[in-house]
Amino acid sequence: PVAARVADLLHKMTLPEKVGQMVQIRVGKLRGNCDYNNGPLVDSCLADVLVTNHAGSILSGGGDGAFPDNSPQNWADTINGIQHYTLTHNRLPIPIIYGADGVHGHNDVAGATIFPHQIGVGATWDPTLARQLGVSTANAMVATGVNWDFAPVSDVSRDARWGRYYETYSEDPYLAGALAASTVTGLQSSGQLTATAKHFAGYSEPQSGHDRTPAQLPVRYLQDIFLPSFAAQINAGVDVAMPDSGSVNGIPVHSSKYMLTTQLRDRLGFTGVVCSDWNDIAQLQSSYHLVSTYPQAIALAVNAGVDMAMEPADAHAFTSGLLADVQSGAVSRARIDQAVGRILTLKFKLGLFEHPYVDASTANKTVDNADRPLARTAATESIVLLRNQNNVLPLNPATSKIVLTGDSADNLSQQMGGWTIGWQGVPDDNSPKPPVVTPLQAMKEVAGDRITYAPTASDAVSKASGADAVVVVLGEKAGAEGPGDVRDPAFTPAQQQLVDSLQATGKPVIVVLMTGRPRALGSIADANAILQSWLPGTEGGHAVSDVLFGTANPSGKLPVSWPKVASDEPMSYQTLPANGTNTYDPAYPFGFGLSYTTFTTSGLAVTPTISRHGTATASVTVSNTGSRAGTAVIPLYLHRPVSPVLMPNKQLVGFARVTLAAGASQTVTVPIAAKQLAVTPGDVDGGAVPTVLPGGYQVMTDTQTVDFTVR
Ligand code: IFM
Repeated sequence: PVAARVADLLHKMTLPEKVGQMVQIRVGKLRGNCDYNNGPLVDSCLADVLVTNHAGSILSGGGDGAFPDNSPQNWADTINGIQHYTLTHNRLPIPIIYGADGVHGHNDVAGATIFPHQIGVGATWDPTLARQLGVSTANAMVATGVNWDFAPVSDVSRDARWGRYYETYSEDPYLAGALAASTVTGLQSSGQLTATAKHFAGYSEPQSGHDRTPAQLPVRYLQDIFLPSFAAQINAGVDVAMPDSGSVNGIPVHSSKYMLTTQLRDRLGFTGVVCSDWNDIAQLQSSYHLVSTYPQAIALAVNAGVDMAMEPADAHAFTSGLLADVQSGAVSRARIDQAVGRILTLKFKLGLFEHPYVDASTANKTVDNADRPLARTAATESIVLLRNQNNVLPLNPATSKIVLTGDSADNLSQQMGGWTIGWQGVPDDNSPKPPVVTPLQAMKEVAGDRITYAPTASDAVSKASGADAVVVVLGEKAGAEGPGDVRDPAFTPAQQQLVDSLQATGKPVIVVLMTGRPRALGSIADANAILQSWLPGTEGGHAVSDVLFGTANPSGKLPVSWPKVASDEPMSYQTLPANGTNTYDPAYPFGFGLSYTTFTTSGLAVTPTISRHGTATASVTVSNTGSRAGTAVIPLYLHRPVSPVLMPNKQLVGFARVTLAAGASQTVTVPIAAKQLAVTPGDVDGGAVPTVLPGGYQVMTDTQTVDFTVR
């Protein structure tokens, strides 16, 4: 049994060997002059990191993948090389575990298929698809020797100014949790890779909208809105959690025992490894000034619950600092054994002791262009049709003459978004690129010369007069973390101006948005048709073309509210009852999305009475009342007519996704567990935790409301 093997190894390990397991070092420190250079591994660097410091883990952080030609085989060879060095040069052969950010496919590797970013997966409302994307990503990562994925992000997205908004699934705790849990199940399905629940918790709603700045989240809001998506991942068996780099309620999360132990472990039941974010333990001293020395910062983080330090800028300072903490009694030996025990348990669980190497000769074949059809399905399902005035869409490729323009009509980097080859997106140099089909390429595949590409605004306006319709693809510069923050999530004046000028031509204007956040539309809202394609990845062009030409019927629904103006942020449909006007006035509401067919729902029913530990079953009949097949997403919302605690006027508790032929109907059932109704009760001072309150509740579709009771 794993526990016995871990205990045996802990018994044999020296304190420095144990402390080394708690460190994860950037791969760049093993190359060149041990200082982030590209190039082959260097023995003296390997010796320093893996033998002198006994590092237990190596990572490629965002944009850190540049092994010789960055191919899958290079990754596998490099990681095998690191593994071989550690296993043959250390007294105890403990394998390293290698981690990377596979946040939309194995996105650091050249040639790998890139899936839509998480916000697009959120718009699919399709947990089965999320699971498949996880399986595919894990296959690619494991084939290159990576056994740890720093994904998925399960922070809820309520502020589109934040640079990591596109890395999240939804503003809604239930939808984000359902998709995160399915992703974890897929990523971990082979037993060879661990997912990461990140960033625990409250990271996504800094007051300023800027990454890693303070968040003020009342306990009720934290517990009821920010923690459920993490709870869902923990229930799905996620083996690693990464703390939020920011502070919540005045306490940096990397130093918070309340967050990392009381909430994460004691309340939510997490039993895996907590790994810090990038050099974040040092920030407790240098940015937050909680303590005056680095060893004090290390003791604070480790005692709060951090088991492993990701890329401490100076590995020696970390290991010697932690050793000094143990000598002084600031950190107990029992706490070190607990942290190292968790790390070793993970390594045993993943089979690294039995199979430390991968077959590098098969890596390219496994990874290059893998699962392109899945990528196309995901990108297609993620598209949300926001407006379709007079059914201007779909276009007929056989007869329509189309002018195609806009900054993302043929732009690899913008189509992929951040965390693709480079941290801030695909570098604009000669480095190897991911595969891509842009809207221009895909539309030409279907309609050939009937597509006229106009790269500039004046070109587009002059050519519009000879066209039947104009398609404008508007995007945003790829970015990640702080550099991706925006003060005003609106389109640029040049983008607004382009659409205005095209609308002035009188031709139908179809706007395709390729952005990682809902941007305030201004006059773009008046375009004849609008689709949101998010950051769709490799197959984004095909997906857009399929929807424009009607080969695919759009089924995506907004996983977030669409603001009218920047000052709407942060924003959510989950408004609380108020003694005044509490408006929810988005450009498009949460859950919105049109189809080329129409659906109705009827016959909503729900189990009339359940216990506080029970599960109600809601059922509803969905009918396709239009003239073509399509997929409907049916959200079920909870409402509590009388409640001693303020509960949202409307709160998602389940949904169904059903594909129906024209004229067909189907009755779908959706389980609603009583525990989903839990809310932090009245007085939070005494450490109140979410509780299911007995009484009357209602379940609602867009058109019907039915009562039920919790005993
Ligand atoms: O996993 C990421 C995290 O989300 C942000 N900081 C860097 C880590 C590793 O790249």
